Amino acid sequence: MAERKLTLTDSESGKTLDLPVVSGTEGDPTIDISRLHPELGLFTFDPGYGATASCKSDITYIDGGEGILRYRGYPIEQLAEKSSFLEVAYLLLYGELPKDTEFARFERDITYHTMVHERINSFMDGFHYDAHPMAILSGVVASMAGFYHDKLDVNDPEQRDLAAKRLIAKMPTIAAAAYRHSMGWPNAYPSNSLNYSERFLHMMFSVPAENYEVNPVAAKALDLLFILHADHEQNASTSTVRLVGSTGANPYACTAAGIAALWGPAHGGANEAVLNMLNQIGDVSRVGEFVKKAKDKNDPFRLMGFGHRVYKNFDPRATIIRKACHEVLDELGIKDPLLDLAMELEKIALEDDYFVQRKLYPNVDFYSGIIYKALGIPTSMFTAMFAIGRTVGWVSQWLEQSATPHRIGRPRQVYTGAAERDYVSIDQR
Ligand code: CMC
Repeated sequence: MAERKLTLTDSESGKTLDLPVVSGTEGDPTIDISRLHPELGLFTFDPGYGATASCKSDITYIDGGEGILRYRGYPIEQLAEKSSFLEVAYLLLYGELPKDTEFARFERDITYHTMVHERINSFMDGFHYDAHPMAILSGVVASMAGFYHDKLDVNDPEQRDLAAKRLIAKMPTIAAAAYRHSMGWPNAYPSNSLNYSERFLHMMFSVPAENYEVNPVAAKALDLLFILHADHEQNASTSTVRLVGSTGANPYACTAAGIAALWGPAHGGANEAVLNMLNQIGDVSRVGEFVKKAKDKNDPFRLMGFGHRVYKNFDPRATIIRKACHEVLDELGIKDPLLDLAMELEKIALEDDYFVQRKLYPNVDFYSGIIYKALGIPTSMFTAMFAIGRTVGWVSQWLEQSATPHRIGRPRQVYTGAAERDYVSIDQR
């Protein structure tokens, strides 16, 4: 079969150009426009990158129309039910599910790297007591480059792998320390006898004066949330990591940039914003009023936790979390009126023409906050929780990019400013 191509004709110059159509294993075909500027002197304009593939990747596949999410080919539903976060981490990093010996080695490596240098703790002490955990997380992760500067050769696969493991291992330690800093509690060191999610809960909530037993229901719920957040192909924070990585910057700088991008309320900051919104609505009787506000084009208010750039159908992660949310609250014996409120909001929005026409469904962040709240995690920590899970995706994508030839990421623009003009001295203006 002849190779598919797109033929463009420039109505001004009459020149034509054949653009090859590139197909991956799944997903919509993509036009390779790399010859467009050299041949026709034209750029493409796609603000927000709604129609632009920035890279080839083997890691995660999303079909937004069908509500499909797969890591390395495995459906998210199967991984959520059968796997663990660290196993998913291995899968995302190395492409295959680990054999038992491979997993044991990987788990040992991650566990071995969970402690942070004491000076990182001193660095953290410099933050104000009420600093947002995401401010601490991005600052501390960037500072890690200063602690491991002898292992920052991005052209060395072993050093890249070590940095990836360090980031995955230390992120929960740093996030928990950020919380403890805000509480004025002493540092809690990682306990290597616990698994990844248990260890995080222990570092969050144990205090020297009490014996803290990790609740297995809480640890399992957390592990599930980490799995669901682990990767989501070229989202804003991952694209940020890749863009920074394309310059040859070190992995700690790239990840810190990813954390900063995640913080925004249109991205990972939405989980914190959802809980704030539910608290602001306060009562089921006020849901209609807020749905109306969300539809009002003169009001900047949006229903947080609704809508997604790629999913124009249910976000499959939201479906899993919604179910888990009910189960976790039941198992922990918690009755949270915010869950009833969220259910009512979801029902009204899903029946409303505005949301139906725009295909706005609840996304991953709509329910995750209710589970975090049930686990005792404060609202200000929600986006840091997302960051712990997503670190695996960031480093997997960074490793993939670093291992393959790539160019510096450098978009172009449509310049709309002043045409050339002459400088006027200050007394003449
Ligand atoms: N509430 C009310 N209207 C909305 C919402 C919302 N949450 N989301 C989108 N719309 C409207 C928007 O006003 C626009 O309407 P119109 O066509 O009349 O101008 C239409 O739907 C399309 O929206 P868009 O802004 O062009 O869509 P986008 O793909 O650029 O943005 C989004 C996607 C996720 C940023 C957006 O839906 C949003 O702001 N949602 C709320 C924040 C949120 O929950 N973010 C978490 C996303 S999932 C996790 C993650 O990525 O980290």
